[in-house]
Amino acid sequence: LREKYLGLIRDAADESRLEDLRVQAIGKKGEVSLAMRELGRMTPEERKEAGPRLNALKDEITSALAAKKAALGDAALEARLASEWLDVTLPSRPRAQGTVHPVSQVTEEITAIFADMGFSVAEGPQVESDWYNFDALNIPGHHPARAEMDTFYMARAEGDNRPPHVLRTHTSPVQIRHMEAHGAPCRIIAPGRVYRSDYDQTHTPMFHQVEGLAIDRDISMANLKWCLEEFAAAFFEVEKVEVRFRASHFPFTEPSAEIDFRCSWVGGQLKLGEGDDWLEAGGSGMVHPKVLAAGGIDPDQWQGFAFGLGIDRLAMLKYGIPDLRAFFDSDLRWLRHYGFAA
Ligand code: PHE
Repeated sequence: LREKYLGLIRDAADESRLEDLRVQAIGKKGEVSLAMRELGRMTPEERKEAGPRLNALKDEITSALAAKKAALGDAALEARLASEWLDVTLPSRPRAQGTVHPVSQVTEEITAIFADMGFSVAEGPQVESDWYNFDALNIPGHHPARAEMDTFYMARAEGDNRPPHVLRTHTSPVQIRHMEAHGAPCRIIAPGRVYRSDYDQTHTPMFHQVEGLAIDRDISMANLKWCLEEFAAAFFEVEKVEVRFRASHFPFTEPSAEIDFRCSWVGGQLKLGEGDDWLEAGGSGMVHPKVLAAGGIDPDQWQGFAFGLGIDRLAMLKYGIPDLRAFFDSDLRWLRHYGFAA
């Protein structure tokens, strides 16, 4: 019995085999247990001799099982350690990294340039009431400017009595919101998304503007022109950019002027600050007294200038991108081509 079980235990391949052997040998109906039960039918002399032997055998098998079990555990651990090792010196897999969108980059540049001139950033909602988007800006209901703007109107459920809302068609409503909240004097820019139903190479239904507003006791068009010249030179990284005002009309400014930057196109390459061409950059003017009043500011005490520039257009010019629509296609190949993605 001893040779048999010690041999079997030695050769056991795993823990379940060991458990089978334990049951076979010293389980309730195991061979050793049965032999021990035979002791009762022995003579006292026989029992004296066989009893201790069987007990010793049982102990020996028990400790052989335990020892083998421990050995099997060690072997399993060794095997795991051998198979599951990790080479921490291997180089890591490359991870794709996002980058800042060109329009966001340009917005940040513009914000930084105006911050140097003392302008802080103001914001307003993209879903705007038609009061802020139009009426407060001296664009009454029948005004042709409403039709010209290709406005997106928000649908209204029956019984909804809230005032009509639109997707803001320009950043100018932020002028009113800022005047209402902070009064005069003020010096802010308001960059953000605006919406018009328009789509071609230079128009997308969503695009970006940056509004400027400066109100003080004696602000003039000259201050406006200086700010725009400073901005253009800094943005296009040239010594000086001449700004030309072209007489225009906006309901919310009087007088109003279209903003042009002096430039040249040499072999399809844009150069700012020199040449005989003019680049249309946006609209501007002196804030209309009615607009100041709508914002809760006394037009007899205060005056100010306002301007609106197209951010996407500035980005296209700065980076030489011909089609505005590509900005918003999220095509990684396009973004990589222009160095806007890794
Ligand atoms: N809001 C005008 C537009 O979107 C631009 C503008 C802003 C003009 C401020 C004058 C003053 O076209």
